[in-house]
Amino acid sequence: MPKIIDELHRDHANLAKLLAALERQLAVFERGERPDYDILHGVIDYCLNYPDLYHHPKEDLVMERLRARDPAAAATLGDLLAEHARLGEITRRFAAAVHNVLQEMEVPRAAFGETARDLLDAYRKHMVAEERGFLPLAAKTLTEEDWREIDVRMAPRRDPLFEGEPEDRLRALREDILAWDREHQARQ
Ligand SMILES: [Fe+2]
Ligand SMILES: [Fe+2]
Repeated sequence: MPKIIDELHRDHANLAKLLAALERQLAVFERGERPDYDILHGVIDYCLNYPDLYHHPKEDLVMERLRARDPAAAATLGDLLAEHARLGEITRRFAAAVHNVLQEMEVPRAAFGETARDLLDAYRKHMVAEERGFLPLAAKTLTEEDWREIDVRMAPRRDPLFEGEPEDRLRALREDILAWDREHQARQ
């Protein structure tokens, strides 16, 4: 399996954990309680900085090579680049919704739940589609040379949330994910 495909799979598994953390906060909010805004800000910060600036652009390069090698097969996958742009847009909308709730504006409370749900759904659908179609197709179609070229254009970068020590603004989210993992494993 090419290294880049492994990394993209790993990013998806990590993102699934982040989305689950967001969903737990959404449940708190929907019960009428106060969600942990440090966790919510961590979700926004991570999505704007890692998927938007690194994971998606890297997939865009993979898609570019796939289109060059097998345009007909690539065309069956839909418009990945447009979906990436849309995910970025939803994240920015969610950031605005969190900001508005913190300003205690009454109307935006409904918008917060709706936008959080949009973000969860959009990311999950997108990742399922990539796991089923895009990644397997790229793994079997791209050549060694393609992977090397992508590696040169997009050098490996540390995941700021899941690898090494997180920065302060991601700490609450990281703790939440680790605590959930520990509890979940303990129950197995
Ligand atoms: Fe993607
Ligand atoms: Fe992806």
